[in-house]
This record gives sequence, structure tokens and C-alpha cells, in this order.
Amino acid sequence: MSDLVFIGIDLGTSRTSIATSTGQRETIWSYVGYPRDHVAKKHFGGRDIIYGKEALDGRLSLELCRPMAGSSVKRRGAQDDARRKKAIKDLLHHVIQIARIPHGSTIYGMIGAPAEASMEGRATILEAVDECIDSVIICSEPYAVAYGLDFIDDTLVIDCGAGTTDLCRLHGTMPKAEDQRTHEIAGDSIDQELARLVREAYPEAQFSINMIRAFKEKYSSVSKRMDPAIVSMPVAGRPQQFDITELVFKACYTLVPPTVTALQELIATYDPEYQEKMRSHILLGGGGSVIRGLGLAIEQALEEYGGGHVITVAEPQHAGADGALKFALDMPAEYWNEFRSIRSLEMAAT
Ligand SMILES: Nc1ncnc2c1ncn2[C@@H]1O[C@H](COP(=O)(O)OP(=O)(O)OP(=O)(O)O)[C@@H](O)[C@H]1O
Ligand SMILES: [Mg+2]
Repeated sequence: MSDLVFIGIDLGTSRTSIATSTGQRETIWSYVGYPRDHVAKKHFGGRDIIYGKEALDGRLSLELCRPMAGSSVKRRGAQDDARRKKAIKDLLHHVIQIARIPHGSTIYGMIGAPAEASMEGRATILEAVDECIDSVIICSEPYAVAYGLDFIDDTLVIDCGAGTTDLCRLHGTMPKAEDQRTHEIAGDSIDQELARLVREAYPEAQFSINMIRAFKEKYSSVSKRMDPAIVSMPVAGRPQQFDITELVFKACYTLVPPTVTALQELIATYDPEYQEKMRSHILLGGGGSVIRGLGLAIEQALEEYGGGHVITVAEPQHAGADGALKFALDMPAEYWNEFRSIRSLEMAAT
């Protein structure tokens, strides 16, 4: 048999990360672009597909797709059209390609999906990797984060992503539907809210949603003593300085109330004997977890419900893929073999 390589993938709305048993770690922005015409294609050196930040930067000459946003993988009830399915497939193939896995290896992949991913979403992922991974298991994303950090007992994971904030209660086994909550106040909705607040406060300022996201990522905070956020935006084409400190605070804080409500629901419906332990084991991950003071703000909001202790994940960008890889490496061989044989049967039947 060829060399066996395990991979963990975190397929996110804004970023996709991979970690491999050969020691590679890569992250790209989840954008896929297709040149609009032959001039655009020439501009991109004859390439048919452009990925990540390069695609976002070159969007004026590309059909740009952010395939995970609003996909069935991320949103229950959503349907994926052929264009989106192709972009998801291209994105996954690309991320596996940049991980430089030795040619001819047998690849076993663990892919994190939102805690409540639908059957359609799972089918979309399986179809997308059918030709490039030999055996695939889809696992709950928050579970992968916690598993990677050895936090699987009586722990609550909060994964603040771009499209959704996923919460998951862990107690040593695979989480079930009742252990999970998802809400849509996350990075993208914070960007929308900040854009709305800026438009309201400074109607003369010109900006794009990408500029707003960059402002947020630079100054994000829910701390009362945050640094001033002074940004430059053009007014009728001329750059001017604007103070958006309070607006950034307000937009970022929208994350706190729904997250605390979901946390409290998950705690209140847990075995009373273990509720205390769970409260003191709240793991905060995802790109949104780097908002300054977020852990503390959640702890303060939890006080009226009995308090809690929040631990912020050290490397949120890699935690999902690293955890999925660790889970893949610990998975007994028969699970992978079972999946392979199911697939060979399915393939034989078609
Ligand atoms: N410094 C920062 N401050 C605030 N938000 C940030 C910061 N850095 C990144 N983010 C936000 O984190 C989000 C991306 O997080 P993450 O990579 O966990 O999402 P994702 O996994 O792609 O999305 P999802 O899990 O919803 O599919 C984006 O909205 C991004 O703007
Ligand atoms: Mg994510």
C-alpha cells in the first residue's frame, strides 16, 4: 500500500485551513475566482482558477465566489447549485494541493463541519472530495477544536466564525443535536452592523465592506478601555480621518447577548451535578475569539446566571484543522476501512 497521510481540514466561511500528518499547515481565505474573459485570464498568467486573497484582490476581473457562505454546509435548508458545488470542490482540491502531500499517497481526511450540518451539507463535502481523498469522515467543528486541546469532558465550546457562532456541549462522547446551538451573529453580521453604524454616523464617508472588515480586525474590542479606532475613509474622493471607536465596540458587542443566551441554555439543560464544572470550562475559539475582552465580557454577562470561566484558544486560525488532524490520527483503522468499503460498494453500484 502507498504511504498513508492523515489530514484535518477546517472548511470555513471566511478561511479554510489544513493540517497534515506530514507536518504541513496552511490557511487560505475561502474565495474562488474564475477569470471573466480571456483578457482577465491572461492577466492571471493563463490560470483558470484563482484562490484566496489573490481572488479577492482581483475580483474586478473575476467571477468571485465565496462558496461556503450560505451553503448547505453552513445553513440548514440551503440548496447548493452546480456553480457553488464546483467552487467548493475547487477550494478543497486546492487546499489539499498546497499541503504538498507526496504524490501517490493514500489520504484519510477528517473534515470539520458546523455542529448542526445538514445531510445536504455533508453530501456536498463528500462529493467535493471524492476524487482527492481516499477515505473521509466529517466531524463536528467545535468538537474538533476541543479534541485538539484535550478538552472533551464537561466543556462548552464557542466557535465564533464568519457566518455563524456555533456552541457545543461536550461530555466525552460525540455531541448530539441537543448538545448544540448555532446563531448567526458572527463575523459577517458584525461587519454588516459596523457598516450600518458608520453609514449612520458619517453619511459622507465612502467605504466598502472589505474596508469595514479590515477596520474591525484591526480595532475589534468589547473592552470598556479599548484603544481609539481612528480610520481613514474618502469623502468625495479625498481621504479623511474618522473616529469609529464606539461604533466598533457596539458592533462587536452584538455577539455577546445571543452567545450568553445559548450558553445558558446548554448549561441549564445539562446534568445539574456537572453544571458547575461545565461553567468553568468554556472554550472560546474561531476568528471572532480574538476580539479584545470577549472572554471577559462573556464571563461578566454570565454572572447573573451563576458565573463562568472562559478560556480563549491560543491559535484560533489553526485550532479546527489541528484538532481534526488529531482526531483523524486517533481514529481506529476500521472506521476508515468501513468508509472505504461503503464507497467502493456505492461506486460499484453506479
Ligand atoms: N482581529 C479580529 N477581530 C475581530 N474579528 C476577527 C479578527 N480576525 C478575524 N476576525 C473575524 O473572524 C471571522 C473568521 O473566523 P473563522 O476563520 O473562525 O471563520 P470561518 O471558520 O471561516 O467561518 P465559519 O466557522 O462561520 O464557517 C471573520 O469574520 C473575521 O473578520
Ligand atoms: Mg469555522
